[in-house]
Amino acid sequence: VGAVVLDVSVSLDGFATGPDARPGVPLGDGGVRLHEWMFADSGQRARREGAADIDQAVVAELFATTGAVVMGRRMFDLGVAEWGGTPFPVPCFVVTHHGREDLVTDNGTFHFFTDGAASALARARAAAGDKNVLVHSPNIARQLLRAGLVDEIHLHLVPILLGGGGRLFDGTEMAGLRFEPVALKQSARVAHLRYRVRPGPSAEGAD
Ligand SMILES: NC(=O)c1ccc[n+]([C@@H]2O[C@H](COP(=O)([O-])OP(=O)(O)OC[C@H]3O[C@@H](n4cnc5c(N)ncnc54)[C@H](OP(=O)(O)O)[C@@H]3O)[C@@H](O)[C@H]2O)c1
Repeated sequence: VGAVVLDVSVSLDGFATGPDARPGVPLGDGGVRLHEWMFADSGQRARREGAADIDQAVVAELFATTGAVVMGRRMFDLGVAEWGGTPFPVPCFVVTHHGREDLVTDNGTFHFFTDGAASALARARAAAGDKNVLVHSPNIARQLLRAGLVDEIHLHLVPILLGGGGRLFDGTEMAGLRFEPVALKQSARVAHLRYRVRPGPSAEGAD
């Protein structure tokens, strides 16, 4: 059975999105630097130092292990034009208050659900089979973490400061969660950190 994984790039000051995320600038001002490590051709120096090998192996593993994606409506609205399809070639489950018909793209289908994050996750798990479900929105991730439904957190810690925008973790409701280090890989551009979420009483609250 696959795991439920929050996989996200985050700045040193804890932001998953820079200020003023908007159509055409989905990661906010300066936020595109959060994902530069994913692109092999974006760093000559990094490639010379072997960073690209580490980073590209992380990306390859992410694609190979992801069987379904859960995201919020904001991520869908901001991302779909950029991706030109689904972000990974797998079914994507969008949590929204405003239902709509499925959107079929060349590489996968977006399904829209109005009955909450946990329900969308249950459908994603079924679709993923023995692969992982990737949680692809900070807001949805917080809801699922509080509900005790996330197995692992994969953070890509990028040495930049964004100064504002969307925090990955916010509020005190999750302060009781505990994490167990699983792995650490370091390239010249980014530190890849993995934590297992320790089972325990789930935190309360909703966004
Ligand atoms: N750094 C990274 O690696 C990374 C990764 C992924 C995303 N991001 C960034 O994160 C941002 C998007 O994430 P986000 O956390 O801001 O928003 P989000 O989770 O994508 O979307 C939030 C929206 O989802 C809907 N929603 C959420 N919970 C719901 C519920 N329980 N029931 C019904 N509808 C619900 C609501 O929209 P409606 O009311 O309109 O339906 C809500 O406004 C983007 O800027 C993206 O670029 C960064």
